Amino acid sequence: MPLIEFRDVWKSFGPKAVYQGLNLSIEQGEALTIVGGSGVGKSVMLKLLIGLLKADRGEILFDGQHVESMSAKQLTRVRQRVGMLFQGAALFDSLSVRENVAYGLREHLKLSEDEISERVAWALTLVGLSGIEAMHPSDLSGGMKKRVGLARTVALKPEVLLYDEPTTGLDPINTTRINHLILSMQRALNITSIVVTHDMGTAFMVSTRMAMVHKGRIVAEGTPEDFRTSTNPLVRNFIEGNAPEDEDMAALVGTKGP
Ligand SMILES: Nc1ncnc2c1ncn2[C@@H]1O[C@H](COP(=O)(O)OP(=O)(O)O)[C@@H](O)[C@H]1O
Ligand SMILES: [Mg+2]
Repeated sequence: MPLIEFRDVWKSFGPKAVYQGLNLSIEQGEALTIVGGSGVGKSVMLKLLIGLLKADRGEILFDGQHVESMSAKQLTRVRQRVGMLFQGAALFDSLSVRENVAYGLREHLKLSEDEISERVAWALTLVGLSGIEAMHPSDLSGGMKKRVGLARTVALKPEVLLYDEPTTGLDPINTTRINHLILSMQRALNITSIVVTHDMGTAFMVSTRMAMVHKGRIVAEGTPEDFRTSTNPLVRNFIEGNAPEDEDMAALVGTKGP
């Protein structure tokens, strides 16, 4: 049985159809990268999975349970098991690194102060930042902030980690560092990960499998090698960084407009 399953999921925002029959399965221990152009619905997919958005139609299963019909209490439990590193996730500037990492622990778990300190130290060590508990976000570089954000998510010991554009805005050195961290999270914690990215370097480096979203559906699925050697024009355009053909725009070329 897959750990996560999207079955014929549909989702629109007003007239804007984002998903029109999304089907995708993820096995325990996989590292799946979701690729696709800006605005195709990658972040929406992650939010549907943890119930931050509700599908119009279809089924979303986590560990055999229907996310789409869960109570708030059941969703809270899912969100403890599925940690999400939000796109552009901000740290609380007024709190120390320790309190930033401890935030979710205090909210979700009943741990003693000693246990919290231990967890925080463990999570910071995992992201290569041990001993910086007393620092504040303003003392940190952009790359370090991302890693503290990851420590905050990892501190809850999730079974699944969702990364939304984890390397956006980072320089190549920090991008490589985050890619290595994603890999080591998988190895150290045997975690299942779903990584949303438009960075092909990240996709090729961290994934066991990739899936491409286009116009409301998964249009390609396979290993990084399958993607590298794909002859599918949508995949090729994406890998080669060509702007996708915009059919709506193409239809207007040569017309004068209203
Ligand atoms: N809460 C929302 N309300 C209205 N429209 C939304 C909402 N969230 C996302 N959208 C729209 O859905 C589409 C997909 O968004 P998103 O998943 O964020 O794209 P991306 O693939 O870049 O992550 C976009 O057109 C976006 O404007
Ligand atoms: Mg997004």
